[in-house]
Amino acid sequence: MAKEPVRVLVTGAAGQIGYALVPMIARGVMLGADQPVILHMLDIPPAAEALNGVKMELVDAAFPLLKGVVATTDAVEACTGVNVAVMVGGFPRKEGMERKDVMSKNVSIYKAQASALEKHAAANCKVLVVANPANTNALILKEFAPSIPDKNISCLTRLDHNRALGQISERLNVQVSDVKNVIIWGNHSSSQYPDVNHATVKTPAGEKPVRELVANDEWLNGEFITTVQQRGAAIIKARKLSSALSAASSACDHIRDWVLGTPEGTWVSMGVYSDGSYNVPAGLIYSFPVTCKNGEWCIVQGLPIDEFSRKKMDATAEELSEEKALAYSCLS
Ligand code: NAD
Ligand code: LMR
Repeated sequence: MAKEPVRVLVTGAAGQIGYALVPMIARGVMLGADQPVILHMLDIPPAAEALNGVKMELVDAAFPLLKGVVATTDAVEACTGVNVAVMVGGFPRKEGMERKDVMSKNVSIYKAQASALEKHAAANCKVLVVANPANTNALILKEFAPSIPDKNISCLTRLDHNRALGQISERLNVQVSDVKNVIIWGNHSSSQYPDVNHATVKTPAGEKPVRELVANDEWLNGEFITTVQQRGAAIIKARKLSSALSAASSACDHIRDWVLGTPEGTWVSMGVYSDGSYNVPAGLIYSFPVTCKNGEWCIVQGLPIDEFSRKKMDATAEELSEEKALAYSCLS
């Protein structure tokens, strides 16, 4: 029997990530090839005509899984009944800016949209915040939508996770799908800590640690980390626009694994509400290694943390605490 359609909200749907993301969702990349979807697309009035153009293209593409499209500038209409909400709407940073430079514009959007989601989304709606500063926008959304469970609000660091997999795969000249269990700790910013201490590569002789195969700690502790931390800026410099197809694809990976589960023995990185695991202050949205099962994520526990990692994990937590204070000062 055909499944009931799932309603997926994409805010900022007329923007460049939106344009890459909505066809992926309509093709089943996010929720599976047998899962019908109804797309809810929200943007602001100046983008209404462009949004309508995206709707026309979705109709023209005749996606078999797409059972309906709501294209609106009304947040209540957009949020009504949604099961998954991908929050992309906001202002992207430009060359020379840090992600927190877009803070004041974006946190006020997330405060307003929190109430629309809280009041009108389906019970148990899963929320993914993509717009920057992603962790802090997610925290603001969480704080202003107190009836949405903490477990249902997350932010995107899967793009950083995928970037780390990509760097290792290029360095070792192996398939990216054979590399697993990198970790992004902390903020989706240049203070994030991409950690390969537990990462492995599938080889004909079994799984081998990345550190053993790369055999160059100087690169792993230096250039590898800065390349992943600075990749967003490198893309802005090259494209004069921030990453879009990789962000859209990673947003699909994030929701797919959250809803359908992570493969056995594999974890992924998600920005989630800290419960104090790994001595990360509770009350921040911080990226952790997680496994997912039955629609729930769970932080991977018990990984040994060396002194080098500890310092980097603490530094990115410190930045998130500062961002939190700054966000509140922007809202007051
Ligand atoms: P964009 O400017 O092309 O699109 C943003 C869209 O949001 C625009 O259509 C704009 O009209 C809309 N918008 C603005 N305010 C809105 C509101 N209140 N409600 C609904 N829509 C609104 O930007 P983009 O390149 O698509 O990037 C979107 C966001 O995603 C930016 O904040 C960017 O920095 C962030 N981003 C995050 C990641 C990540 O990994 N977390 C990766 C790439 C980009
Ligand atoms: C990215 O990581 O590509 C995005 O967050 C865009 C940015 O501002 O870096």
